[in-house]
Amino acid sequence: MRQAGRYLPEYRAIRQKVDFLTLCKTPELAAEVTIQPVDILGVDAAILFADILLPLEAMGAELVFAKGDGPTFPNPVRTREDIARLRQPDVQETLGYVFDAMRLVRRELDGRVPVLGFGGTPWTLAAYLVEGGGSKHFEHLLAWSYGDPEGLALLLDRIADTSIAYLSAQIDAGAQALQLFDTWGGLLDLPRWRAVALPPLRKVLEALKGRVPLIYYINGGSHLTEGFRELPVDVLSVDWRRPLDEVRRSVGGRFVLQGNLDPAALLAPLAEIERRTAALLAQGAGGGHIVNLGHGILPMTPVENARAFVETVQRRS
Ligand code: CP3
Repeated sequence: MRQAGRYLPEYRAIRQKVDFLTLCKTPELAAEVTIQPVDILGVDAAILFADILLPLEAMGAELVFAKGDGPTFPNPVRTREDIARLRQPDVQETLGYVFDAMRLVRRELDGRVPVLGFGGTPWTLAAYLVEGGGSKHFEHLLAWSYGDPEGLALLLDRIADTSIAYLSAQIDAGAQALQLFDTWGGLLDLPRWRAVALPPLRKVLEALKGRVPLIYYINGGSHLTEGFRELPVDVLSVDWRRPLDEVRRSVGGRFVLQGNLDPAALLAPLAEIERRTAALLAQGAGGGHIVNLGHGILPMTPVENARAFVETVQRRS
């Protein structure tokens, strides 16, 4: 789950003073908001405060977080000529603030809980970069994937190379596990997920494998579970759209599963949150299970509801 964020008054207080990118790029502040959910909710792991889109900025794509609009890329990448203008960045030079934040978090937590690093999958990063931001249909991305798949593959490969350097450096700075977010992998059917999204993802995962546990998260990917059997990861993290016991049956016993309470369930009365959390624990009981939300926490979630979720899990497992 996205743990930090606007549902926390302590986070909003910091965001009143600095914009989102400044927060990401100020290691002391990024470390502070990373640790907030650990102190306030009592979660069992911290996830570094950063954003999946930062390495695209390091590749030379201007990135803007306009108030209320989410992320935008004013100059989207849509042709091979656009790809040629991107660079393979020196990640220490361009993204050093992320690694500084990671080192600070590790130092301040002093072993209290493990710290996760993260990034986006090449497909999901390309989705934002090609479209120029979030989108309902991702038409530019999908048009490219049908019209010039080799061209798009070049872009995905460039993003994979930067991701490998970026994620390796997070491990060097102290990340104890890495999660790759595939928010838009579910746009593809299984043959196209295998043909388009999997090769650059596999390249990233193979490069990192064996250093720390790897977690693959997909949103809206219930129709793709068969394909996940091939992924070199330790943990498969899924959204709430398919019950966890069913997911386990369809991927086989190979993975620890992570998930998958509907984030909207945290808007329910406390007794209902407890009931649904207990049901989730029962569904996950057939094998390794890291209890989590199925996607990021919603900004209107009351803090005491998020705490009830965490406490129910800790009491019952
Ligand atoms: O979980 C955490 O505490 C770690 C931080 C984290 C953020 N983004 C901070 C953030 C993580 C793990 C992410 C991942 C991320 N970022 C994803 C993958 C997961 C997912 O949500 O599907 C994606 C697609 C992004 C890109 C991104 N960043 C979007 C689409 C948005 C706007 C979303 C919104 O709710 O408005 C962001 C902004 C963002 N990233 C916020 C946070 C806390 C909200 C920023 C704010 O206004 O303060």
